Amino acid sequence: MNFCTSPLSPLNNQIAEIELDIPFQRVALAVIAGLLLIGLAIYGFTQWQTSDPYIRSVLSLEGQRSHGQEIFQMNCAGCHGIQADGLVGPTLHGVATRRTPASLIEQVTSGKTPPMPQFQPKPQEMADLLAYLSQV
Ligand code: HEC
Repeated sequence: MNFCTSPLSPLNNQIAEIELDIPFQRVALAVIAGLLLIGLAIYGFTQWQTSDPYIRSVLSLEGQRSHGQEIFQMNCAGCHGIQADGLVGPTLHGVATRRTPASLIEQVTSGKTPPMPQFQPKPQEMADLLAYLSQV
């Protein structure tokens, strides 16, 4: 009888178990490595976003909500509604719970999502707008 190829051989069963274990560990390792890489990418992206000098200076300033509201009503309300509840543009209620301050600044200043125009507020004006957007 061929000891090594018999499916009933205890040695063969052991080998089969070992073969099963190794791929599982590899998969687990790959998943952990993947998650680490994703985490690192997100961290790197936020670091890169906040390294922009304009964004840094906006974030270092204290925004005044009432002034932000005035700026909003003059520049943004035509599309987003006087109460920021949406018109041509989407409602902005709770937008600051979904998006980081840096990404809100990017949204306002980049002009990457037409028809929303590209705005160039001074850092203090942008800080005021952020204060408004974070409580709307
Ligand atoms: C010409 C119309 C228009 C004006 C003016 C405008 N927006 Fe928008 N805005 C839009 C549209 C349309 C979108 C959706 C863009 C998309 O995601 O494709 C948008 C998206 C946004 C978003 C992202 C919303 C989300 O759910 O992620 C924010 C924040 C925003 N606008 C803020 C502002 C602010 C602040 C101003 C004034 C400084 C402004 N917008 C002026 C049309 C406008």
